[in-house]
Amino acid sequence: MLTTPVLLGDRSYNVLTGQGLLASTGSQARSLFPLTRRCAIITDSNVGPLYADTVADSLRSADFEPTTITVPAGEPSKSFSCLESVCRAMVSAGLDRKSFAIALGGGVIGDLAGFAASIFFRGIPFLQIPTTIVSVVDSSVGGKTGINTPEGKNLIGSFHQPKLVLIDPATLLSLPDREYHEGFAEVIKHAAIRDAPMLDVLASLAQNPSRLHLDALIARNVAIKASIVSEDEFETKDVRALLNFGHTIGHGIEASAGYGQFLHGEAISLGIRAALSLSTQFASLSPHDALRITQLLHSFHLPLTLPTSIPTDTILSKLARDKKFDQGHIKFILLNSPGHAFVSSAITLPSCATAINALRTPPDLS
Ligand SMILES: NC(=O)c1ccc[n+]([C@@H]2O[C@H](COP(=O)([O-])OP(=O)(O)OC[C@H]3O[C@@H](n4cnc5c(N)ncnc54)[C@H](O)[C@@H]3O)[C@@H](O)[C@H]2O)c1
Ligand SMILES: [Zn+2]
Repeated sequence: MLTTPVLLGDRSYNVLTGQGLLASTGSQARSLFPLTRRCAIITDSNVGPLYADTVADSLRSADFEPTTITVPAGEPSKSFSCLESVCRAMVSAGLDRKSFAIALGGGVIGDLAGFAASIFFRGIPFLQIPTTIVSVVDSSVGGKTGINTPEGKNLIGSFHQPKLVLIDPATLLSLPDREYHEGFAEVIKHAAIRDAPMLDVLASLAQNPSRLHLDALIARNVAIKASIVSEDEFETKDVRALLNFGHTIGHGIEASAGYGQFLHGEAISLGIRAALSLSTQFASLSPHDALRITQLLHSFHLPLTLPTSIPTDTILSKLARDKKFDQGHIKFILLNSPGHAFVSSAITLPSCATAINALRTPPDLS
């Protein structure tokens, strides 16, 4: 088992990564909550049938009384109405301020259950058991929770750090290929901004694709996310913003595409390609390194070409409304070299337009 600490003073916690850890949920929780009986496992309709019983059995054998609350799988569950159902189900199950919640699922469940835990009885503790690449390497660590409204994604939420993150890489075996691959956009992002040697590790994984030996790679990614969060928990410095590499244009594409056209990581792949090209023009990234990272995105089956059905103007209008846009300039993350990202104020909307238009042509990967 690999242990990665997330150092946040009295809100510090560990991220444990190891095969079969789901079955140790009860004993892990018992050492954190010696006197508690009631808890809720919040999960979705895909993950619950596969893994909730293992978690619930483990909790019962450690003398807990778990209730499983299942919401429909998918982003629409990050809503006020679903939040209400989850909170009311927790009340009905007899949970109170001494109880705790467990988020069992991908980022949707982590964000929803974490937010529910942060407001239930004015805040109860929660554990994360992430089951997608995105949630394992990104959303389960850092304490950002929230839901969407028709006006936008993640507009309502809180900072609420988990007490423990349990990663059982065996759960990733049941993840559909498309969801598995999209998560690698965030992994490649981590390598690009903080860990250049990981680019080689990823290149060999792409050559010998296997989901069986991901523990070390997962822990390496968790450590990157943990160190960034430790330096800038509430995103008040420019450090946590580095995680937005590829996300400014990526979010614009995601928000402009039809529902389901691009998964988040797929839109971010396009955003990373654009950010790499801007980094060669407005920072010192070499075209060779930009090509290496672009090739890596391609080798994880991530899209690199933007369809004409999504107009550049629509993407730009989403960017202009983005919270990172300020007085003509965007707080844009660029690379000086692999592993070295920084916040630039050199990027304007016209330069974004040029980079977006360049995404219409497939890259030359030779
Ligand atoms: N809080 C943060 O810091 C943060 C960071 C990044 C993303 N997010 C949020 O995370 C969400 C995306 O997360 P996601 O990509 O994990 O999506 P998701 O939770 O919707 O999971 C993707 C799909 O895979 C299914 N699934 C999950 N685990 C599975 C497994 N092991 N086997 C089979 N199927 C499985 C789910 O039911 C769902 O259908 C977005 O809402 C995004 O805003 C939050
Ligand atoms: Zn992302």
